Amino acid sequence: MSKTFLFAGASSTIAIQAALLLKDKGHKIIGISRKDKGDSYDEFYQVEKYDFSALPDIADTIDGIVYFPGTINLKPFARITPAEFIKDLQINCLGAIAFVQAYLNNLKKSKYASIVFISSAAVSIGLPFHSSISMAKGGLEGLSKALAAELAPAIRVNCVAPSLVNTPLGDKFVNTPEKMEQMQKRNPLRQVGNPIDVANAITFLLLEESAWITGQVLAVDGGMSTIKN
Ligand SMILES: NC(=O)c1ccc[n+]([C@@H]2O[C@H](COP(=O)([O-])OP(=O)(O)OC[C@H]3O[C@@H](n4cnc5c(N)ncnc54)[C@H](OP(=O)(O)O)[C@@H]3O)[C@@H](O)[C@H]2O)c1
Repeated sequence: MSKTFLFAGASSTIAIQAALLLKDKGHKIIGISRKDKGDSYDEFYQVEKYDFSALPDIADTIDGIVYFPGTINLKPFARITPAEFIKDLQINCLGAIAFVQAYLNNLKKSKYASIVFISSAAVSIGLPFHSSISMAKGGLEGLSKALAAELAPAIRVNCVAPSLVNTPLGDKFVNTPEKMEQMQKRNPLRQVGNPIDVANAITFLLLEESAWITGQVLAVDGGMSTIKN
Protein backbone atom coordinates (compact mmCIF):
# COMPACT_ATOMS: atom_id res chain seq x y z
CA MET A 1 0.00 0.00 0.00
CA SER A 2 1.30 3.45 -0.89
CA LYS A 3 2.45 5.55 2.07
CA THR A 4 3.29 9.23 2.45
CA PHE A 5 6.66 10.34 3.83
CA LEU A 6 7.83 13.85 4.68
CA PHE A 7 11.49 14.93 4.53
CA ALA A 8 12.93 18.12 6.07
CA GLY A 9 16.26 19.21 4.59
CA ALA A 10 15.11 17.75 1.30
CA SER A 11 18.10 19.03 -0.70
CA SER A 12 20.35 16.60 1.21
CA THR A 13 22.10 14.13 -1.09
CA ILE A 14 21.08 11.30 1.24
CA ALA A 15 17.47 12.58 1.31
CA ILE A 16 17.25 12.64 -2.50
CA GLN A 17 18.63 9.09 -2.64
CA ALA A 18 16.10 7.90 -0.02
CA ALA A 19 13.26 9.66 -1.90
CA LEU A 20 14.23 7.79 -5.09
CA LEU A 21 14.20 4.43 -3.28
CA LEU A 22 10.76 5.10 -1.76
CA LYS A 23 9.29 6.46 -5.01
CA ASP A 24 10.46 3.28 -6.76
CA LYS A 25 8.33 1.33 -4.27
CA GLY A 26 5.29 3.48 -5.09
CA HIS A 27 5.30 5.80 -2.08
CA LYS A 28 4.60 9.54 -2.06
CA ILE A 29 7.39 11.80 -0.80
CA ILE A 30 6.88 15.40 0.32
CA GLY A 31 10.03 17.55 0.58
CA ILE A 32 10.73 20.66 2.62
CA SER A 33 13.96 22.57 1.98
CA ARG A 34 15.53 26.02 2.14
CA LYS A 35 16.70 25.36 -1.44
CA ASP A 36 14.63 24.60 -4.51
CA LYS A 37 14.99 20.85 -5.03
CA GLY A 38 11.34 20.25 -5.86
CA ASP A 39 11.98 18.01 -8.88
CA SER A 40 13.00 15.09 -6.65
CA TYR A 41 9.69 15.14 -4.74
CA ASP A 42 5.98 14.54 -5.39
CA GLU A 43 5.12 17.67 -3.42
CA PHE A 44 7.56 20.35 -2.32
CA TYR A 45 7.69 23.35 0.03
CA GLN A 46 10.48 25.90 0.23
CA VAL A 47 11.01 27.37 3.73
CA GLU A 48 13.34 29.97 5.20
CA LYS A 49 14.23 27.94 8.29
CA TYR A 50 13.28 24.86 10.29
CA ASP A 51 11.15 26.64 12.83
CA PHE A 52 7.62 25.68 13.95
CA SER A 53 6.15 28.96 12.68
CA ALA A 54 7.88 28.66 9.28
CA LEU A 55 6.81 25.09 8.47
CA PRO A 56 3.89 24.61 6.06
CA ASP A 57 0.50 23.24 7.08
CA ILE A 58 0.03 19.80 5.51
CA ALA A 59 -3.35 18.08 5.69
CA ASP A 60 -2.32 14.52 4.63
CA THR A 61 -1.86 11.57 6.91
CA ILE A 62 1.92 11.15 7.15
CA ASP A 63 3.38 7.67 7.64
CA GLY A 64 6.95 8.72 8.30
CA ILE A 65 9.18 11.76 8.66
CA VAL A 66 12.93 12.20 8.39
CA TYR A 67 14.82 15.27 9.59
CA PHE A 68 17.98 15.64 7.44
CA PRO A 69 19.44 19.09 8.26
CA GLY A 70 22.91 18.89 9.74
CA THR A 71 26.35 20.46 9.98
CA ILE A 72 29.96 19.30 10.25
CA ASN A 73 31.67 22.12 12.11
CA LEU A 74 34.98 20.68 13.34
CA LYS A 75 37.23 22.89 15.47
CA PRO A 76 39.32 22.75 18.63
CA PHE A 77 36.93 23.12 21.59
CA ALA A 78 38.57 26.34 22.84
CA ARG A 79 37.95 28.07 19.50
CA ILE A 80 34.24 27.31 19.17
CA THR A 81 32.16 30.33 20.09
CA PRO A 82 28.90 30.08 22.06
CA ALA A 83 27.11 31.29 18.92
CA GLU A 84 28.55 28.36 16.92
CA PHE A 85 27.46 25.84 19.56
CA ILE A 86 23.95 27.34 19.50
CA LYS A 87 23.84 27.31 15.68
CA ASP A 88 24.83 23.62 15.55
CA LEU A 89 22.26 22.80 18.25
CA GLN A 90 19.59 24.74 16.35
CA ILE A 91 20.18 23.12 12.96
CA ASN A 92 20.79 19.55 14.15
CA CYS A 93 18.47 19.22 17.14
CA LEU A 94 16.07 22.09 17.90
CA GLY A 95 14.94 22.13 14.25
CA ALA A 96 14.13 18.42 14.59
CA ILE A 97 11.98 19.17 17.65
CA ALA A 98 10.03 21.85 15.74
CA PHE A 99 9.61 19.48 12.78
CA VAL A 100 8.20 16.62 14.91
CA GLN A 101 5.91 18.98 16.84
CA ALA A 102 4.61 20.48 13.59
CA TYR A 103 3.62 17.11 12.09
CA LEU A 104 2.85 14.94 15.13
CA ASN A 105 -0.90 15.07 14.49
CA ASN A 106 -0.34 13.98 10.85
CA LEU A 107 1.72 11.01 12.11
CA LYS A 108 -0.92 10.08 14.68
CA LYS A 109 -3.41 9.54 11.84
CA SER A 110 -1.19 6.76 10.39
CA LYS A 111 -1.46 3.11 11.43
CA TYR A 112 2.33 2.50 11.35
CA ALA A 113 4.19 5.79 11.71
CA SER A 114 7.97 6.10 11.91
CA ILE A 115 10.32 8.99 12.72
CA VAL A 116 13.99 8.84 11.65
CA PHE A 117 16.74 11.24 12.73
CA ILE A 118 20.27 11.42 11.29
CA SER A 119 22.92 11.38 14.01
CA SER A 120 26.68 10.85 13.63
CA ALA A 121 29.17 8.12 14.54
CA ALA A 122 31.06 10.86 16.41
CA VAL A 123 28.51 10.67 19.26
CA SER A 124 29.50 7.13 20.24
CA ILE A 125 33.21 7.23 19.28
CA GLY A 126 34.37 10.48 20.90
CA LEU A 127 36.59 12.30 18.41
CA PRO A 128 38.78 15.40 18.79
CA PHE A 129 37.39 18.64 17.33
CA HIS A 130 33.85 17.18 17.29
CA SER A 131 32.57 18.77 20.52
CA SER A 132 29.91 20.94 18.88
CA ILE A 133 28.52 18.36 16.45
CA SER A 134 28.69 15.59 19.10
CA MET A 135 26.79 17.81 21.55
CA ALA A 136 24.09 18.57 18.98
CA LYS A 137 23.72 15.04 17.57
CA GLY A 138 23.98 13.57 21.09
CA GLY A 139 20.97 15.70 22.01
CA LEU A 140 19.19 14.32 18.98
CA GLU A 141 19.92 10.71 20.03
CA GLY A 142 18.63 11.42 23.56
CA LEU A 143 15.54 13.05 22.09
CA SER A 144 14.91 10.04 19.83
CA LYS A 145 14.98 7.57 22.75
CA ALA A 146 12.69 9.70 24.93
CA LEU A 147 10.26 10.15 22.03
CA ALA A 148 10.40 6.43 21.21
CA ALA A 149 9.20 5.73 24.76
CA GLU A 150 6.60 8.49 24.82
CA LEU A 151 5.10 7.82 21.39
CA ALA A 152 5.06 3.98 21.56
CA PRO A 153 3.24 1.93 20.47
CA ALA A 154 1.72 4.23 17.84
CA ILE A 155 4.89 5.84 16.47
CA ARG A 156 8.40 4.35 16.21
CA VAL A 157 11.46 6.60 16.57
CA ASN A 158 15.01 5.66 15.51
CA CYS A 159 18.31 7.25 14.46
CA VAL A 160 20.87 6.32 11.87
CA ALA A 161 24.44 7.29 12.76
CA PRO A 162 26.81 7.48 9.76
CA SER A 163 30.54 8.07 9.76
CA LEU A 164 31.97 10.08 6.85
CA VAL A 165 29.75 9.94 3.75
CA ASN A 166 30.64 11.39 0.34
CA THR A 167 28.19 14.33 0.13
CA PRO A 168 28.71 18.10 -0.14
CA LEU A 169 28.67 18.29 3.69
CA GLY A 170 31.64 15.91 3.94
CA ASP A 171 33.38 17.09 0.77
CA LYS A 172 36.19 19.06 2.38
CA PHE A 173 37.46 15.83 3.99
CA VAL A 174 37.66 13.87 0.72
CA ASN A 175 38.13 16.47 -2.00
CA THR A 176 41.61 15.31 -3.06
CA PRO A 177 42.74 11.73 -3.85
CA GLU A 178 45.13 11.92 -0.85
CA LYS A 179 42.40 12.93 1.60
CA MET A 180 40.04 10.29 0.21
CA GLU A 181 42.71 7.59 0.61
CA GLN A 182 43.43 8.70 4.18
CA MET A 183 39.73 8.63 5.11
CA GLN A 184 39.25 5.21 3.47
CA LYS A 185 42.22 3.82 5.46
CA ARG A 186 40.68 5.00 8.74
CA ASN A 187 37.49 3.01 8.10
CA PRO A 188 37.39 -0.73 9.03
CA LEU A 189 35.75 -1.53 5.66
CA ARG A 190 38.26 0.82 3.94
CA GLN A 191 35.48 2.88 2.41
CA VAL A 192 33.96 6.29 2.83
CA GLY A 193 30.17 5.90 2.85
CA ASN A 194 28.00 6.51 -0.19
CA PRO A 195 24.62 8.30 0.14
CA ILE A 196 22.87 5.06 -0.89
CA ASP A 197 24.34 3.22 2.15
CA VAL A 198 22.58 5.61 4.51
CA ALA A 199 19.45 5.93 2.35
CA ASN A 200 18.97 2.14 2.49
CA ALA A 201 19.05 2.21 6.31
CA ILE A 202 16.63 5.14 6.44
CA THR A 203 14.09 3.51 4.14
CA PHE A 204 14.36 0.28 6.17
CA LEU A 205 13.53 2.22 9.36
CA LEU A 206 10.61 4.00 7.67
CA LEU A 207 8.95 0.91 6.25
CA GLU A 208 7.17 -2.01 7.89
CA GLU A 209 10.19 -4.36 7.58
CA SER A 210 11.39 -2.60 10.76
CA ALA A 211 7.99 -2.71 12.51
CA TRP A 212 9.48 -4.17 15.76
CA ILE A 213 12.41 -1.72 15.99
CA THR A 214 12.18 1.49 18.02
CA GLY A 215 14.47 3.57 20.25
CA GLN A 216 17.58 2.40 18.37
CA VAL A 217 20.64 4.11 16.93
CA LEU A 218 21.63 2.19 13.81
CA ALA A 219 25.32 2.67 13.03
CA VAL A 220 25.87 2.93 9.26
CA ASP A 221 29.59 3.52 9.38
CA GLY A 222 31.63 0.65 7.93
CA GLY A 223 32.20 -0.57 11.48
CA MET A 224 33.90 2.67 12.56
CA SER A 225 32.07 2.96 15.90
CA THR A 226 32.66 -0.64 17.02
CA ILE A 227 35.69 -2.14 15.25
CA LYS A 228 39.41 -1.38 15.37
CA ASN A 229 41.54 -3.23 12.75
N1 LIG B 1 28.06 13.56 5.01
C1 LIG B 1 28.57 13.05 6.13
O1 LIG B 1 29.77 12.72 6.23
C2 LIG B 1 27.68 12.84 7.32
C3 LIG B 1 28.16 12.10 8.42
C4 LIG B 1 27.34 11.94 9.52
C5 LIG B 1 26.09 12.49 9.54
N2 LIG B 1 25.65 13.20 8.46
C6 LIG B 1 24.31 13.81 8.51
O2 LIG B 1 23.56 13.48 7.38
C7 LIG B 1 22.54 14.48 7.20
C8 LIG B 1 22.36 14.80 5.74
O3 LIG B 1 23.51 15.46 5.24
P1 LIG B 1 24.19 15.09 3.83
O4 LIG B 1 25.43 14.31 4.12
O5 LIG B 1 23.17 14.50 2.91
O6 LIG B 1 24.70 16.50 3.32
P2 LIG B 1 24.21 17.50 2.16
O7 LIG B 1 23.87 16.79 0.92
O8 LIG B 1 25.31 18.50 2.09
O9 LIG B 1 22.90 18.15 2.79
C9 LIG B 1 22.99 19.13 3.81
C10 LIG B 1 21.75 19.09 4.67
O10 LIG B 1 21.87 19.99 5.76
C11 LIG B 1 20.92 21.03 5.66
N3 LIG B 1 21.59 22.29 6.02
C12 LIG B 1 22.85 22.67 5.72
N4 LIG B 1 23.11 23.89 6.23
C13 LIG B 1 22.00 24.26 6.90
C14 LIG B 1 21.63 25.42 7.63
N5 LIG B 1 22.48 26.45 7.78
N6 LIG B 1 20.41 25.47 8.18
C15 LIG B 1 19.54 24.45 8.03
N7 LIG B 1 19.82 23.34 7.31
C16 LIG B 1 21.04 23.25 6.77
C17 LIG B 1 20.36 20.99 4.25
O11 LIG B 1 19.00 21.42 4.28
P3 LIG B 1 18.28 22.21 3.05
O12 LIG B 1 17.58 21.19 2.20
O13 LIG B 1 17.30 23.12 3.72
O14 LIG B 1 19.36 22.93 2.30
C18 LIG B 1 20.48 19.50 3.94
O15 LIG B 1 19.41 18.79 4.55
C19 LIG B 1 22.95 15.66 8.10
O16 LIG B 1 22.13 15.67 9.27
C20 LIG B 1 24.36 15.33 8.50
O17 LIG B 1 24.72 15.86 9.78
C21 LIG B 1 26.40 13.37 7.34
